Amino acid sequence: MPDEDGYFDERVAARYDESAAETFDPAVVDPIVDLLAELAGNGSALELGIGTGRIALPLARRGVPVHGIELSNAMAARLRAKPGGEDIGVTIGDFATTTVEGRFSVAYLVFNTIMNLTTQEAQVACFRNVAAHLEPGGRFVIETAVTELQRLPPGETIRAFHVSETKWGFDEYDVVRQGLTSHHFELVDGRVERQSIPFRYVRAAELDLMAELAGMRLRDRWGGWKREPFTSESDEHVSVWEKLGA
Ligand SMILES: C[S@@+](CC[C@H](N)C(=O)[O-])C[C@H]1O[C@@H](n2cnc3c(N)ncnc32)[C@H](O)[C@@H]1O
Repeated sequence: MPDEDGYFDERVAARYDESAAETFDPAVVDPIVDLLAELAGNGSALELGIGTGRIALPLARRGVPVHGIELSNAMAARLRAKPGGEDIGVTIGDFATTTVEGRFSVAYLVFNTIMNLTTQEAQVACFRNVAAHLEPGGRFVIETAVTELQRLPPGETIRAFHVSETKWGFDEYDVVRQGLTSHHFELVDGRVERQSIPFRYVRAAELDLMAELAGMRLRDRWGGWKREPFTSESDEHVSVWEKLGA
């Protein structure tokens, strides 16, 4: 069971950058930062679930003031310990409800983290919370995976998402409650460690409705950070909503 740091506790935080190493590659990070810096313009950015600063640190190095909301003290401590980390304010709390000072020109929630909110109510609350922090005309960006439901044979509930010599991952779907539990098994020092994390998967159209409830409308939806078209083959989408009232 998770402690007050949620699923990204000390044990996970200590190995996060290493276990997600491919997502720290500049080839992955640079297009994300390019787009967010463009949307931020002369304003500030708010990152929900800022983690260890994978995106916030390079965005801040581009001259965009960044503030983060983060549930996990252990993850935030890793961010603070990095060069430039001291300059990024982090408010500890749930990004669905936690408020911070200031108004932002862009807020962003990347790496499937909208799905860490496991109820529709919490996801709707997140959109409303973001809207309350954006300037009129400000943008909310979500990057999230398209679920592999289309690849599930009828009646089956489990998809392997990673199989290697040292790591195994399986997603378990509950189509009744839009639940998705990711089961991770990893060989560490000769022992298999297990972690199972619950998510609520959510389709793009439902996110658009949440945005509308929060006073935002869709501006762009791409299949990736380089503004690839979003198609039936896309395995993720990057969506941008605008807060109305500019
Ligand atoms: C997959 S990590 C992504 C971290 C960072 N955004 C990145 O791209 O590397 C998800 C982060 O969101 C945080 N998180 C998950 N649910 C949260 C919530 N409800 N409120 C605040 N932070 C949350 C986790 O603690 C973790 O640091």
